[in-house]
Amino acid sequence: MTKIAPSILSADFANLGKEIADVENGGADYIHVDVMDGHFVPNITIGPLIVEAIKPVTSLPLDVHLMIENPDAYIPMFANAGASILTVHQEVCTHLHRTVKLIKDNGVKAGVVINPATPAETILPILPEVDLVLVMTVNPGFGGQSFIQSTLKKIEQIAAWRKEMNLKFELEVDGGVNKDTAKLCIDAGADVLVAGSAVFNKTDRRHAIEDILSAVGD
Ligand code: DX5
Ligand code: ZN
Repeated sequence: MTKIAPSILSADFANLGKEIADVENGGADYIHVDVMDGHFVPNITIGPLIVEAIKPVTSLPLDVHLMIENPDAYIPMFANAGASILTVHQEVCTHLHRTVKLIKDNGVKAGVVINPATPAETILPILPEVDLVLVMTVNPGFGGQSFIQSTLKKIEQIAAWRKEMNLKFELEVDGGVNKDTAKLCIDAGADVLVAGSAVFNKTDRRHAIEDILSAVGD
């Protein structure tokens, strides 16, 4: 079954609690939280305070995507704030294995994410250690960008490694996912779809989620 993780980056921040309830009632599986620091990506969004504030308003897991430099310094804060999954970028982790262990030691599921220009091979050694792999299908920083088709090969490659090594991590995609591109991702082997603008920019969020799911045949 395909999972849907609406990204609150495209939600109405003045009504965040209501927005989250709306997608939870509409069939979302995770709430995707985009944390940006203005260094790793050219945008600044939210921090642990917001994660802590939204934790009590939803029963869904908080899927926290850290687009920040030096994630080790902030992992304990996000874990304490209520993150269920913490995903770090391979590009900023000099000691990726240590960072993944730090996430797990904080009692949170560990994910690793690669940008569109980062080869899949860079995360091959860490695959047995992670709960989730996120393949960026746009360059991170903003919602509403166009899907980069060349990322599909990497999704296929990572899905093939997962099968070969008999691993159980979830394979998530993020960026430009809508009812047209979702099927490409699922056919390539993804099982969790992050969708920001394709869900929150529609007035009927349940319908938006159902549209994506029916496009992939779920
Ligand atoms: C991009 C973020 C995404 C973003 C996706 O840097 O990581 O999660 O919210 O937005 P859409 O689905 O609109 O491309
Ligand atoms: Zn994201």
